[in-house]
Amino acid sequence: MTARTSRQAFGLKILKAGHPDIRQLKREGHVAEIHGNKFWNSSYLIMDYLKKNPLPKKARVLEIGCGWGLLGLFCAKQFGNRVHGIDADENVLPYLELHAKINGVRMTGEKKRFNQLTVDYLSGFDVILGADICFWDEMSTELYNLIRRGKKAGIRQSMISDPCRPPFTALSEKCEEKFDNVEVVEKFLKRPVNASGEILIVR
Ligand SMILES: C[S@@+](CC[C@H](N)C(=O)[O-])C[C@H]1O[C@@H](n2cnc3c(N)ncnc32)[C@H](O)[C@@H]1O
Repeated sequence: MTARTSRQAFGLKILKAGHPDIRQLKREGHVAEIHGNKFWNSSYLIMDYLKKNPLPKKARVLEIGCGWGLLGLFCAKQFGNRVHGIDADENVLPYLELHAKINGVRMTGEKKRFNQLTVDYLSGFDVILGADICFWDEMSTELYNLIRRGKKAGIRQSMISDPCRPPFTALSEKCEEKFDNVEVVEKFLKRPVNASGEILIVR
């Protein structure tokens, strides 16, 4: 029963849609509206990368389009980072809180859109992370502008992973054209699930 409704991966317990606690939150009316209804696999690509390229403990991490927040929670658990998540959909936040609780780590979250993250706001962080957040055409421009504001704010590293949907590829190409220090890392994972895609890294 447990294996069917949750999984253990990268040191985290991750609940599936059928888990009683997830179903309870849904019954209470927390129904995600912009695809934040589950945990998406592209987070694993960044987790795998960070296992081999760890963040310093003192790094302040912002997870954008955080959904259930597992990527941020991974950083809090593995590296002891202070982590905050933002998402346009407030309905995802109780799922983030639930996963923070069952994993015994701390991560704060709030409702905010990419476009609302000002240079001043971003100056409170060192690293921006996001997984599976570039799926509509307008998101390429929004995320490009966000990364640019992040650079002004002193963000040291922005990382966005995706299974390579066209808006993400457009974002990567624009970053490669406009910024100096850009890396695009290809990833193929067999475990904990089959997952493939790219990580855009802007330093
Ligand atoms: C496909 S889900 C991915 C969630 C999570 N990152 C994961 O990997 O499980 C996309 C998330 O981005 C959020 N989102 C979409 N547009 C957004 C925007 N303009 N600003 C902030 N968050 C946004 C959605 O609400 C949703 O939670």
